[in-house]
Amino acid sequence: MKIKSANFIKSATSPEHYPRDGRPEIAFIGRSNVGKSSLLNSLLGVRGLARTSSTPGRTQLINFFLVNDKFYFVDLPGYGYARAPVEVKKHWGPMAEKYLATRQDLVLSIVITDLRHEPTELDLLMKEWLEARGKPFIIVATKADKLSSNQLRANLSRTSAVLDTKAIVAYSAVTRSGADRLWKEITSRVAHRGAQVAD
Ligand code: GTP
Ligand code: MG
Repeated sequence: MKIKSANFIKSATSPEHYPRDGRPEIAFIGRSNVGKSSLLNSLLGVRGLARTSSTPGRTQLINFFLVNDKFYFVDLPGYGYARAPVEVKKHWGPMAEKYLATRQDLVLSIVITDLRHEPTELDLLMKEWLEARGKPFIIVATKADKLSSNQLRANLSRTSAVLDTKAIVAYSAVTRSGADRLWKEITSRVAHRGAQVAD
């Protein structure tokens, strides 16, 4: 996928702030600090486009990034951060859930886990929630560069067992391994929606 342009468009907390141009959207979801924003940046090859941080809770709003003038990447705040301020916790659920449940333009959710750690109950709930609603999703286990190839294999099968699916892409925002597979999935979902995606 050739990236001709990638721009931050806006942040939103509720539907009246979402873009209204009908372009397809790909959402990045997962626990706080798993590497959602880093994945988004590395797919686009633009460092620092979505803000990243080693402290959980960096992304607190729904952020829309327009890619090649054709589709949006949507960076969502992370869930399950125990030490998040009460106000943040109170708003994450309704804000992100409303987006995921109602957004007609959403063509693919990328559910991100940290390959080093066993997925949590919340990750499983998220996957089952998407499945039950017939929302297309793909699981990406990131930070693969932090593991040896033996560990990588073992952790991939553990992630696969816990989340009860074989459809998992191992990824690294550092080496970009897994990017081609992910782009294939993204472009096919966008094309399916009827948009013209030029390579
Ligand atoms: P919140 O917005 O706070 O929910 O976090 P996030 O899921 O967007 O995570 P973010 O992209 O900010 O990354 C969290 C930390 O993990 C940062 O220090 C990143 O540099 C690091 N990180 C993310 N992806 C990778 C990866 O593939 N490999 C390595 N080595 N580090 C990564
Ligand atoms: Mg983030």
